[in-house]
Amino acid sequence: MRRPLIAGNWKLNLGPGAAAALAVFLRDALAGRDDADVVVFPTALSIPAVAAVLDGSGLGVGVQEIAAVASGAMTGANSAVMAREAGCTWMLAGHSERRQYFAETDAGVGAKAKAGLAAGLYPIVCIGETLEERRAGRVDEVTQRQLAAALAPLSPAELALVTIAYEPVWAIGTGETATPEQAQEVHAALRGWLHAHYPAIADTVRVLYGGSVKPSNAASLLGQPDIDGALVGGASLMVGDFVGIIDGAR
Ligand code: PGA
Repeated sequence: MRRPLIAGNWKLNLGPGAAAALAVFLRDALAGRDDADVVVFPTALSIPAVAAVLDGSGLGVGVQEIAAVASGAMTGANSAVMAREAGCTWMLAGHSERRQYFAETDAGVGAKAKAGLAAGLYPIVCIGETLEERRAGRVDEVTQRQLAAALAPLSPAELALVTIAYEPVWAIGTGETATPEQAQEVHAALRGWLHAHYPAIADTVRVLYGGSVKPSNAASLLGQPDIDGALVGGASLMVGDFVGIIDGAR
């Protein structure tokens, strides 16, 4: 049985003050509950403030983006080692917005996941097709190509620590959600691909769904056999909605 993981991607929202305030509400709303792993991804500048609030709460903090190197001449970048020191235990790699606006490559995602693991972060590797790719019947080809590249550099021990997030690009921030059946179909194909290529982790790795998840659709998505949690954007900025989604994982 895979334990549900609900992740909140706050994207470029909430500076340190507002992020800490949201973290307080979330911590208090979830106090005493243990029905899912919960982690939030503030913007890098807000990580220390959120980590201070969530310290000892059981809720995790993650970094949205890291460089593949620990330090050096890389103006503007953040590293996994520094994110770990600032209180993170999780990281995202390969979010579609990074692929779209920051020229993230399939190979880069693997290198970043590897660097994060070396620093003690659990990577959530994000994959997903565009609407054009879906219409062309290329969903499996694209998602499996992205996943293969991300996992290729990892050792067997590292593979066991990875989480995958399937996020169809056409469903992110659009209000357009994949139906539970559409999502399950892709998750099952990904699980099959894992069985063929990485049998040791195929039954234990968590595959999250992301893309316009909200309280009203969470239970039906999370009820699918191969959907093990959610990566939530917009709805994670509101405590009531985010807790409602966590309720859907029960
Ligand atoms: P959304 O974003 O829930 O706002 O669609 C999901 C994501 O980008 O991780």
